[in-house]
Amino acid sequence: MKKVFVKSYGCQMNVYDAERMADMLAGEGYAETKAMEEADLVILNTCHIREKAAEKVYSELGRVRELKEEREAQGHETKIVVAGCVAQAEGKEILRRQSAVDVVVGPQNYHRLPDLLKRPRAERIVDTEFPIEDKFDHLPAPTKAKTLSRGVSAFLTIQEGCDKFCTFCVVPYTRGAEVSRPVAKILDEAMRLADAGVRELTVIGQNVNAFHGEAADGSVWSLGRLLHRLAEIPGIVRLRYTTSHPRDMDEELIAAHRDLPALMPYLHLPVQSGSDRILDLMNRKHTGDEYRRLIERIRQARPDIALSSDFIVGFPGETDQDFEDTMRLVADIGFASTFSFKYSPRPGTPAAEHDVQVPEPVKVERLARLQNLLETQRQAFNLGTVGQTLDVLLEKPGRHPGQINGKSPYLQPVQIESEAVKIGEVVTVRITGKSSNSLFGELIGHGGREAA
Ligand code: 5AD
Ligand code: SF4
Repeated sequence: MKKVFVKSYGCQMNVYDAERMADMLAGEGYAETKAMEEADLVILNTCHIREKAAEKVYSELGRVRELKEEREAQGHETKIVVAGCVAQAEGKEILRRQSAVDVVVGPQNYHRLPDLLKRPRAERIVDTEFPIEDKFDHLPAPTKAKTLSRGVSAFLTIQEGCDKFCTFCVVPYTRGAEVSRPVAKILDEAMRLADAGVRELTVIGQNVNAFHGEAADGSVWSLGRLLHRLAEIPGIVRLRYTTSHPRDMDEELIAAHRDLPALMPYLHLPVQSGSDRILDLMNRKHTGDEYRRLIERIRQARPDIALSSDFIVGFPGETDQDFEDTMRLVADIGFASTFSFKYSPRPGTPAAEHDVQVPEPVKVERLARLQNLLETQRQAFNLGTVGQTLDVLLEKPGRHPGQINGKSPYLQPVQIESEAVKIGEVVTVRITGKSSNSLFGELIGHGGREAA
């Protein structure tokens, strides 16, 4: 049997796509391997969001090339595929920069991989046209055993692409316009996952709360409505969604945080900056205060909600005062966990053309100050859960015998010691302590309050 090694970079959409590629290639006789050295087919599923991520691909390709040559010397052929957003954005340039690459395939075209791989070796291929057909219609479902081997928590893509055109972002160019999958297809996939033993579903999309999927009766469902329906699927005890835009947080979705016990009290809602001037230059179409008021409404619906966000420092033209506005917004809101980045100019995006780029040392200093504050908030949030009784979804065995790892409703990793529990169970745990990245707890009961 041939072997395929898939490495994914970047966001959860890529993790999902990588799994679907592996599922599809399973039907072509490829078994998945975690060791690149033994792979007949190496797929790098790439990310183009920041320059560092994109450049990483080329250094990795250098290593894969060496491997290909070593294997060739032993009489084994290795095919190299570059998939994902760098493939979409750079296309032919990748073939030019790395001669060992056989196929370049974009995120909307990977359902064609089996065909592309059958072409003769000399024919190096780039497939990045946005196709008319829906790739999801061509992707086979994984076996039950495969689904379960990936864990009790699964991602499900419900929406792709983005029409927001934030001036720093390549996504609208690499992933294309915003498209929602039909409701019936999402429900089928969710039921299949639940049937295989999945307990937690995270519905994903570049702009997931812009979801507007068509139902069988022709009506259009919002994310709030979809979440209510997903919660009815037997076996699904937890729901999450990511990533969202503040402008698409509608009443129905906010109300779902109040009314739907399966919807976990955690929200990743990127704000990017706290300065109205920068938010405007970013084309975010909201102000700092509008974000604050939105968070207030969400907290009214679900007071214990853990908030997460993305931040960019050093956007072109960002002054000290703009940066202080970001620090003030962070201080006002209080985040449980976040991602923060130095602005990275991306080819083809409006902000990259801006005359006033912020010098690197200023970016470095701002990022350090911001991350310091965010880390203090994260630790404070985690400390605040010590002493509480929380439901924990058990996900995998811990490092030591008898230890088992799971997640709190707030997405915190929790470790407990118990022989009397099993993976996939929601248990009630008293949180007794914490380390820098996880919580420790003791088992109080089975079933959990969520599941009731
Ligand atoms: N530079 C830095 N960070 C970026 N992001 C997107 N584009 C850029 C860029 N050009 C960040 C945003 C986004 C997250 C996924 O990546 O914060 O929310
Ligand atoms: Fe990029 Fe903005 Fe779309 Fe998010 S909303 S994917 S940051 S353009």
